[in-house]
Amino acid sequence: MKGVVLAGGLGTRLHPLTKVTNKHLLPVYDRPMIYYPIQTLVNAGIREILLVTGGNSAGDFLKLLGNGKEFGLQHLDYTYQEGEGGIADALRLAEYFADSDPVCVVLGDNIIERNIVRAAQAFRKQKSGAKILLKEVKNPQRFGVPVLEGDRVVRIEEKPNQPCSPYAVTGIYFYDARVFSIIKTLKPSGRGELEITDVNNAYIEAGQLTWDILDGWWTDAGTVESLHLANQLVAQTGANHLDGESQK
Ligand code: DAU
Repeated sequence: MKGVVLAGGLGTRLHPLTKVTNKHLLPVYDRPMIYYPIQTLVNAGIREILLVTGGNSAGDFLKLLGNGKEFGLQHLDYTYQEGEGGIADALRLAEYFADSDPVCVVLGDNIIERNIVRAAQAFRKQKSGAKILLKEVKNPQRFGVPVLEGDRVVRIEEKPNQPCSPYAVTGIYFYDARVFSIIKTLKPSGRGELEITDVNNAYIEAGQLTWDILDGWWTDAGTVESLHLANQLVAQTGANHLDGESQK
């Protein structure tokens, strides 16, 4: 399985912090934001990683990360998303890199306390389809929200005013190679983006989406409030723990 970190987009919800630099280069406690999703993939045993970036300061990622030596990697791949066409538009750029292999996709502003080792193992066994990770949150209306019937996810609603469940769909997704043909069928949403939620709904309609609950805390860092929370959580407990690792 290959890994893809999506770090494109313009980060406008963080203006003026992101007026001249890229959201994913901002500090989250003691590291740049982009370190966390890369570590999430590395901790899951994924060694071939593509970073999709875009917007401001894209060249700075090379200077910061190089070939990923700090993460124990021998090589990192990079590509550039023009504009802010949405998460699925950024993932589209990974088709050549994936080369028909399954992918684990992590959004560049998603930070986790623990790891996704168990989910990655389960998806390797699943062989085809998709897998998402859910987390109970206080404010589901800010996220993709699963509609559950028993233990089946029957639909995902993107930022619903009246969430049908207390869960957020986190920005960690597992897909088989079919994801790229699904993306080609998508139409831009009301906010003009190709939505990852539409990709996940296509897998649900095909009866090919599984889900799990993510262990430990999870947050995005794409708004002033969530960036502040991410800093506090990492300062208090650290992030990306492997099993058995002691906490700060
Ligand atoms: O964090 C999880 C949530 O992420 C999910 O629950 C939602 O279903 C999903 O749509 C997404 O919601 P956001 O509106 O918070 O996503 P945002 O636009 O902040 O983008 C998140 C990351 O995705 C961003 O840090 C970089 C990447 N991205 C985003 C866009 C719009 C790209 O690479 N390219 C893009 O064009």
